[in-house]
Amino acid sequence: MFEQVMEYPVDPIMIGADYFAADPRRDKLNLTVGIYQDEHGQTPVLEAVKLAEQKLIESQTSKSYLALTGDANYCNVLGHEIMGQAYDDGWVSAQTSGGAVALRVMADLLAQMPKPPTVWLQTPTYGNYVPILTSAHARFAQVAYYDRLKREITFDQMLDGLTAARAGDVFLMQGVCHNPTGADMNIEQFHAVLDLLEARGIIPWIDLAYLGFSQSWDADCAMVRKIAERFPECIVCITLSKSFGIYRDRAGALFVKTRAGDRDRMHRAVSAIVRSGASHAPDHGPSVVRTILQDDILKPRWLDELDQMRTRVARVRQQIADTERAEFGTDQLAYIAKQSGMFSLLPLNETQETALTRDHGIHVVKGGRVNVARLGAADAKKLIRAISETTSAT
Ligand SMILES: Cc1ncc(COP(=O)(O)O)c(C=O)c1O
Repeated sequence: MFEQVMEYPVDPIMIGADYFAADPRRDKLNLTVGIYQDEHGQTPVLEAVKLAEQKLIESQTSKSYLALTGDANYCNVLGHEIMGQAYDDGWVSAQTSGGAVALRVMADLLAQMPKPPTVWLQTPTYGNYVPILTSAHARFAQVAYYDRLKREITFDQMLDGLTAARAGDVFLMQGVCHNPTGADMNIEQFHAVLDLLEARGIIPWIDLAYLGFSQSWDADCAMVRKIAERFPECIVCITLSKSFGIYRDRAGALFVKTRAGDRDRMHRAVSAIVRSGASHAPDHGPSVVRTILQDDILKPRWLDELDQMRTRVARVRQQIADTERAEFGTDQLAYIAKQSGMFSLLPLNETQETALTRDHGIHVVKGGRVNVARLGAADAKKLIRAISETTSAT
């Protein structure tokens, strides 16, 4: 019977990991990973996390199931933390297994509505949105977001594309440190998008994965706060994987702001979808997050560690631009210093991207995404030289 099982597409990031493992070269470089790494290539457990875990071991009295929507206290603390005063009883919330499950619950919910809206996606964007929306049978369409050869956001094209959206449709955008481009809208562009969404009755859906990696945790929450204050209906998904370095512990949440009359129905709908899919979310990661956010000693310690991760990535970005200018006399990669977060897209076409791996052992995600956080000082030079040789050869 299983001979009927179809061939499923494998995530390009996983394919990249396989290719990297099979590459016999000793000086190969893996820029495909989607996690923070320090200068030793390690993804450390933060001290604040270790301390919170110790506290939890001593204080936890039960491991019984929580509600389907998780620990209301976790959702409340997190909701207030990221949305500030805009977060109140008018929101439906759920603790989820990372951000991916928050996205999936919402995708299921939208797809199951009697008149399913279209979800508008930026292109390129996080590689798992399309698989999540497709598995949920949700409707989606795409608008251009970034041109990797020009190294810039295609803002006018994005707005033009959105004029085809109808009232009640949803626009799925990212908060800060856009994955995979590293290019965020500036404040004027962001406000222009909100104006358009409001004027056309499009619902904002904001996905937050890298809070704290652009300016600071607090400053990076500004976008979602603006959306939460301004729109009567909106959707917020968050993963804490990166900001707390707890990738495998799966902490995330879904927040939905509804009109008062829809709130209880929305809560039941979210609970039912959680029940039939992911069921109860894991608790360890979310409990660590809650413990840190509620502790006057652990919270500043975590913010400090988050800031150290942010400054390291910013330093590597600047180092790439400075090294290229000083040692190669060019500015091909100067844009990287102006971007933020873990990722950027290399300004290479498909042939050049293949050559980068084939000729130089530098592995990137299909489409040109590199993890800047992975680079040590010597790696930056290797990358610049390889890009320079690759672009001048083709
Ligand atoms: C933009 C974005 N959203 C959501 C996620 C999902 O995060 P998690 O794997 O923690 O569920 C990621 C992970 O890389 C991401 O980059």
